[in-house]
Amino acid sequence: MEFGNNELIMLKAMLTNPMDDWTLESLFKETGWDDQVHIAGAGNVLSELGYVQINEKITIFIALGFEGKNSLDVGLLESRLWSWITDQNNDEQTLSNLLSADFTRKETGPGIGLLKGLGIEIIEGKFSYDNTEEISELIQQREDFIKLLANSRVKISDLDKNLVDHFSSRRGLINFEEVKSRSWKLTKKGIEVDASKFQETNLIGELTPEILQKESWKGAQFKPFDVSLPAPIPFGGRKHPMQSLIERIRSVFLEMGFSEIEGNFVQSAGWNMDALFIPQSHPARTMQDTFYLSEPETIDIDEKFLDLWSRVHEHGHDTGSKGWGGNFDINESRKSLLRTHTTVNTIRHIANNPDSPSRVFGIGRVFRQETIDRTHLPEFHQIEGIIHEPDASLPMLITTLKTFYSKMGYPDVRVRPAYFPYTEPSAEVDVMWRGEWLELGGSGIFRPEVTEPLGTEWPVCAWGMGLERLAMLILDLDDIRQLYQPDLEKLREMPLL
Ligand code: PHE
Repeated sequence: MEFGNNELIMLKAMLTNPMDDWTLESLFKETGWDDQVHIAGAGNVLSELGYVQINEKITIFIALGFEGKNSLDVGLLESRLWSWITDQNNDEQTLSNLLSADFTRKETGPGIGLLKGLGIEIIEGKFSYDNTEEISELIQQREDFIKLLANSRVKISDLDKNLVDHFSSRRGLINFEEVKSRSWKLTKKGIEVDASKFQETNLIGELTPEILQKESWKGAQFKPFDVSLPAPIPFGGRKHPMQSLIERIRSVFLEMGFSEIEGNFVQSAGWNMDALFIPQSHPARTMQDTFYLSEPETIDIDEKFLDLWSRVHEHGHDTGSKGWGGNFDINESRKSLLRTHTTVNTIRHIANNPDSPSRVFGIGRVFRQETIDRTHLPEFHQIEGIIHEPDASLPMLITTLKTFYSKMGYPDVRVRPAYFPYTEPSAEVDVMWRGEWLELGGSGIFRPEVTEPLGTEWPVCAWGMGLERLAMLILDLDDIRQLYQPDLEKLREMPLL
C-alpha cells in the first residue's frame, strides 16, 4: 500500500473537519472528485495505514412489490371487499353474494382470510362484525402505508413496524431492499498527523501514449495496482432476454429443418376461427375474449373458402363429418380481429401451398381479452408449427416436440389427451420442471374439417405453445409481468440465454 497523491488529497480533505464521519457525498464535495472509485481506493490505503476507519452500514428500505403497485390503482383487496360489504343491504352481505360479485376466485380465497384478520366473521353464510369504525380505520392505515411508498422506497425505520410485519406476510405487496453505505472517519493517528510532511508525488496510475513518448516515466513512481479492490461492474449492452429466447427457439427449429413463416396481427374471424372449425357459437369468440376491430370492421375472404366453410360447418360437406348444424353466417367470418392464436398463420400457409409438403414454424404475438395477473397478459406470444406431408403422424408430432424441448434444455416431455375443435387426436404438452409437470401448449392432428377446405389430403401435425410460459421456466420467474417490466437492474441479473 502506497501513500500517493489521492491519499494525500483525501487526508487533507478530511482534516478540514477532523471529527466528522465523512459520507461519500461530503467527500465528493471536499475533494472535488466525482468517481467513488477514488474514494474507495484512497480510503482503503488510508485505512490500511491506520489513518482512517471505514464504517459500513446496511440500511433496509421498503418498496412496493407487484401487488403493491397494482393496489395503488385498484385499492387493496380488503378495502375493495369492505366497500362491497358495506355497500350491500344488511341481509345481502352474504358469502354467496360475494362469490357472485365482481371478484376473481383468486381474490375471494385470500380475501376471506384478510376479512377474518380484520375481525369480520362468517356466521351462517353472513358477514358479521361489530366494529365498523375500527375496521375502516385499520384499512385506511394500510392504504396510507401503501400510498407512502407510491413514489419511492422508504427506510424501514421510518415506517410503522406492525404494518411492515403485516405486509411482509402477504405475497408481492412489499419488497425489502438492502442498501450498503460506507463512511470514513479519521482515527486518532489520522487526526494527529501532520499532512505537510507528505510530499505531493505524482504517481502514475495509467500509462498513456504521451507518457511513453515523452519518456517522463523514467524515474517516475507507479501506482501499485490492487486487483482485489472492489470496482464498479461495467454493464455492456445486451439483448432483452425475450429477444434472446426467441432467437434461440428460432435456431432450434431451423436446425431441425423447419422454415419460418409470419403473418399479420389483423385477421378475419374466418381465418382465425371458421377455417379451424371453431363453431360460430363458441364462447371464446365473444367480445369478452377476443379483440374485434372497428377499423377495418370487415376483411374480404375468398368466396371459395366462405362457401366451403359454410358447408363444412353446417353439415360437414364431404369430410365425413356431420358439421355443427345450424346456419353459418359469412358476415361473422368477415369480421376483423386481432389474431387470438398463431394457428391462423399455419393454416393460411397450407391454403397457399396445399400441394407442397412443408415443415414450418413461427413465433408471433397474439391477443386475448385477459385480465392482467401473475400468469396472464392480453398480449403474449406463441410458438407455432406444422408438419404437412403425406406421412405426417402422431408419433412424428410427439417426437418433434420432444426433440424441440430437449434442445431447449427440458428433456422430460409428456403428452396428455386434450380437446381442441380443430384437432383429432389432440394433446396437451407438459414438461418436467423441478419435479413438477408444467403445461406448455396444445397440439394435435388437424381434423379433415380443417384440412379439406384448405385443399390438402395429407395429415398435418400442428402445435401452438406459450412463449412466456417457457420464458418463465427458463428465467425462473413466478410472475409473467416481470418479463416486460423495464427494470434495468432485474434485466441485468437475468441469465444470458
Ligand atoms: N391454438 C391453440 C392455442 O392457442 C394451440 C394449438 C395449436 C392446439 C395447434 C392444437 C394445434 O392454445
